[in-house]
Amino acid sequence: MDTQSKATEILNLIESEFPGIRQDGHIDPFALLGALGLRPEEEQQLYSFSWAGQRKAERLATDPTSATLSPIPERSVDWEATRHLLIEGDNLQALKILYRGLHDQVKLIYLDPPYNTSSTFTYSDDFSVPEAEYLLKTGQVDNSGNLLSSKVDTAGSKHAGWLTLMLPRLILARQLLHEDGILFISIDDHEVHHLRLLLDGVFGPENRLATLIWNKNHSQQQGIFKEYHEYVLVYAKEAHGFKPFAASTDDDIIAGALKRISRANPASDFTFPAGVRCEAPDGTEFQGRWGKGETVELVSGRFRVMNGHTQDEMTLRAGWTQKEQMTRMFYGDGSPVFDTRGQEVLEFYFNRNGKLKCRKKRGVFTPKTVMEWGTQSQATDELRQLFDGEAVFDVPKPTSMLRDFVSWTCRNDGDVALDFFAGSGTLGQAIYEQNSQDGIQRRFILVQAPEEAKGLSQEVKAKFGISKIIDVTRERLIRAASRVQTPLQRGQDNPDLGFRMFRVSEGVLPGWLPPPADATGHDYVEAATLFAEATTSVPEEHARDALWEVILKGTSCDPTATIDLCAGTNGIYQVRQDGKFEGRLFVSVSPHLDSHEIESLSLTEHDTLVCFSGALTDTDAINLALNARLLFIERVPGAVSV
Ligand SMILES: C[S@@+](CC[C@H](N)C(=O)[O-])C[C@H]1O[C@@H](n2cnc3c(N)ncnc32)[C@H](O)[C@@H]1O
Repeated sequence: MDTQSKATEILNLIESEFPGIRQDGHIDPFALLGALGLRPEEEQQLYSFSWAGQRKAERLATDPTSATLSPIPERSVDWEATRHLLIEGDNLQALKILYRGLHDQVKLIYLDPPYNTSSTFTYSDDFSVPEAEYLLKTGQVDNSGNLLSSKVDTAGSKHAGWLTLMLPRLILARQLLHEDGILFISIDDHEVHHLRLLLDGVFGPENRLATLIWNKNHSQQQGIFKEYHEYVLVYAKEAHGFKPFAASTDDDIIAGALKRISRANPASDFTFPAGVRCEAPDGTEFQGRWGKGETVELVSGRFRVMNGHTQDEMTLRAGWTQKEQMTRMFYGDGSPVFDTRGQEVLEFYFNRNGKLKCRKKRGVFTPKTVMEWGTQSQATDELRQLFDGEAVFDVPKPTSMLRDFVSWTCRNDGDVALDFFAGSGTLGQAIYEQNSQDGIQRRFILVQAPEEAKGLSQEVKAKFGISKIIDVTRERLIRAASRVQTPLQRGQDNPDLGFRMFRVSEGVLPGWLPPPADATGHDYVEAATLFAEATTSVPEEHARDALWEVILKGTSCDPTATIDLCAGTNGIYQVRQDGKFEGRLFVSVSPHLDSHEIESLSLTEHDTLVCFSGALTDTDAINLALNARLLFIERVPGAVSV
């Protein structure tokens, strides 16, 4: 037997005794020494969570991207009016591009990443090369650009590869979240333990709100246990001070106002004025002590009931749970009383057994951690029904699950919900339906890689125009929108049932560096000196993409901004987006702007014009810089963006 085989045999023997020495597919030398009792005490590691590739994964979150989003109006629905977005492309690039316009703004992020169940995993992030070239190089797309697989593995280090996929995306997800924002992420037992540690690292364990269990009531496995469930991990950006979810109904809730007397909840006396409502029949009188667990004792006065109310002042002894609120209710100045969770207390009254109850306005809603959203096959059937009975996507999530998340977290018009592992686009359908039911105008952003839709017959592909999963997403949105009822509650005249479609693509202006957002006329003079020779323009056929690239990467706008060609100009566009900037914003990627065009804009000091420096004469540029904010698009070697 050669040395190598002998070593393998010994290792196998040790491993059979100490199975913990193999970590993520490899023998961990520290664990091996530890198992053999040979690890010196001082080298014992403190508890830590790390994997090969972690540093690279962290860098991926901050590495600049040369990618941009190109608009596809012809694949969009209601381009002008809609504020929903469907983005085709790798989500890491999409998140970096969206960052500038949407950081700290997203209320809900729902994610359903690959669960890493497969034994092969071919995902790797290396965007130093352009998107298309990269996808081809790493074997993720065929020569026609179809994504072949999003399954993940790197030479046996299945968990490390998956974690490297997830970390940069979660870092960016957190940055996009609003301070009241929440992340919900679906996962099963393959990675739940790693994902929790990963999220604890990115969000902080103190921001973990819950681990939800979806009771799927069904299992296809034939193992020792029937696995009926999967998880949804829930993290807040900032759990401190996070308010409970607002109730979507405004019915009243009835709660007991006393507890069993104990050391933690000792008995005390409270004096009730006469006239408290009581549900016991007229003529009833409670005396002495009553109630089994939660006992109440009459200390002084009489507890007589007439006309549905108590007749006398009386003092009762019990384990009151809301004494402070009772005091404010019976003896306060009449201002509204709220409980510790912010729900308005409407009344304290006695039930027919003489026990004190509290009626409150249901201000908050506290979901259970074990949830029933139907079975996986019901969710698949739901999607199948939209596609005339054809199964076009294997494992969609139930729309009811996403409607719950959306209705808990997005309560105001304009609230943004993002899903960057969109699959068939369940979040989009959930938002169409929920908006139509409660009239709140939420917005969705879906990102889906250009992965091939596998396992569909040519007939089905042709019938629905599907070649990639993103085609399923798009078609689902259109079909779901057509079935949505007109809003019932808040009378929206024009419910937003469209979407704008964009594609992640290689930037037209690689390596350009927008000047700082607060650039002044003085900066301009320096810029003019620095880049006087760097006259740049873009070919006509790329003008639209270049315009969007400047808007998305050089201004604070997101892809729902509107752009209009200014009358009397040959290529100056006014960009509008509510609440994003003061004054007016104009962008041009034309090679030349003449004085008349510029004059027709009547720019003031609050307005901004973004253009190529070479598009202006020196005189126009200096005049402009003195009267308005002027920003230049320049090619700069090694430029940083995002
Ligand atoms: C489990 S599915 C999501 C299903 C979805 N929740 C639904 O209800 O239909 C995960 C999706 O993420 C997509 N995906 C995987 N890696 C991606 C990436 N890097 N960028 C964008 N999408 C990706 C896959 O193509 C797949 O469609």
